[in-house]
Amino acid sequence: MCENNSTTGSTARIGVFRELLAHLQAAGYTFVCPSPETQMRVVVPRSLQIAQTGRNTLEDAFGWSLEIQQEKITELLPSHLFQRLCHAGVLYQKRSSGPYKSSVRVSDLHLSRHHYQQSGNGASSPSYYNYYLHSAFPVTQDSAFFGPDTYLFLDFLALSRHYLSPRAVRTIVDVCCGPGAGAIHMARGFPRAAVIGLDLNDKALELAGINAALALPESSDVRFCRSHLFSSLPGLLPDGVEVDVIVANPPYIASKNGRRGDTGPTPMYADGGASLGLEMSMSIVREGVRFLAPGGVLLLYTGVTIVAASPGHDPFLTWILAQGQYQLLDYRVCHPDMWPEEIGNGAYVDAARIQVVGAALRKRNIKGEGARG
Ligand SMILES: C[S@@+](CC[C@H](N)C(=O)[O-])C[C@H]1O[C@@H](n2cnc3c(N)ncnc32)[C@H](O)[C@@H]1O
Repeated sequence: MCENNSTTGSTARIGVFRELLAHLQAAGYTFVCPSPETQMRVVVPRSLQIAQTGRNTLEDAFGWSLEIQQEKITELLPSHLFQRLCHAGVLYQKRSSGPYKSSVRVSDLHLSRHHYQQSGNGASSPSYYNYYLHSAFPVTQDSAFFGPDTYLFLDFLALSRHYLSPRAVRTIVDVCCGPGAGAIHMARGFPRAAVIGLDLNDKALELAGINAALALPESSDVRFCRSHLFSSLPGLLPDGVEVDVIVANPPYIASKNGRRGDTGPTPMYADGGASLGLEMSMSIVREGVRFLAPGGVLLLYTGVTIVAASPGHDPFLTWILAQGQYQLLDYRVCHPDMWPEEIGNGAYVDAARIQVVGAALRKRNIKGEGARG
């Protein structure tokens, strides 16, 4: 499956979400998505509070993913929007006459009400370009991810401005794109470029198409395609076209394999495979070089497990420095202690912390090296 931002999801579905986001914007809706662990801690006391006060907010429905009785949700939404959301399956009931739940969450990149679009006559009008649709809580195996990593990833992508001139960038790939935040961010920064988002998860791809359709001008050249890492890319690039920039925030948590302390299977958005979750990131570095133009840049955001017995050793940095095809432009710690709830369990029994890093790599311009195909 490969669709561009004007055809992904039906036009009607995009219209429903457009109306929802406009309503949220007008109501000053703000929801910055926390980790699942934090959300779990919040929703229990928040549900008790609602039971006591009888008062719900839009954030309860579309941020905290709480179930809301019909008489309450219809106080929060205009009735035609409520009907449209039900008809589109965005709001649903687990049993007839039961409460309503949203199948998606809406998260803010920053505090949306502080963002305004400048119109032609100089007046400011509210814009909802900071809202992203992603899966409801609680997470499942195939949840479309947006969370704390996304915020840090987009901050890291600001580096692209240091290494790339917008004029020179024609093709950008966001591998493991999820609901599209990285691809959309790059399309804004490089409006002349063609952007391709790749992911294995159809749910994430559908939301990515809708997010892009809502966030970007119609003229944007952004597509989202089903792909195991880069496997579909050869069929998507015109003959002879190489990629100028690859960006990625792939899964980086170790696969669960029944070790003591392992809970259920790792969701698709988190499962980075072997080498304590680094396998997927290493594959992106290794395979990405085949598609990058000489001088092209890979911006990779990932998590590295630091083992308690060698707290000064970053195994990913050591591995990257041994990859001769790349020049390392930057390597920075974006968060020193991400997902601390993993530490001490299963694969992480000997771990000290998971350090999230951003690596900026430039493909060396070596003659005869890196031919695609
Ligand atoms: C941590 S999420 C990040 C999503 C998005 N890049 C962001 O920053 O919000 C990782 C994404 O990788 C995708 N993924 C997992 N395995 C994959 C694979 N083998 N090939 C392509 N995508 C994959 C998941 O479906 C998920 O959307």
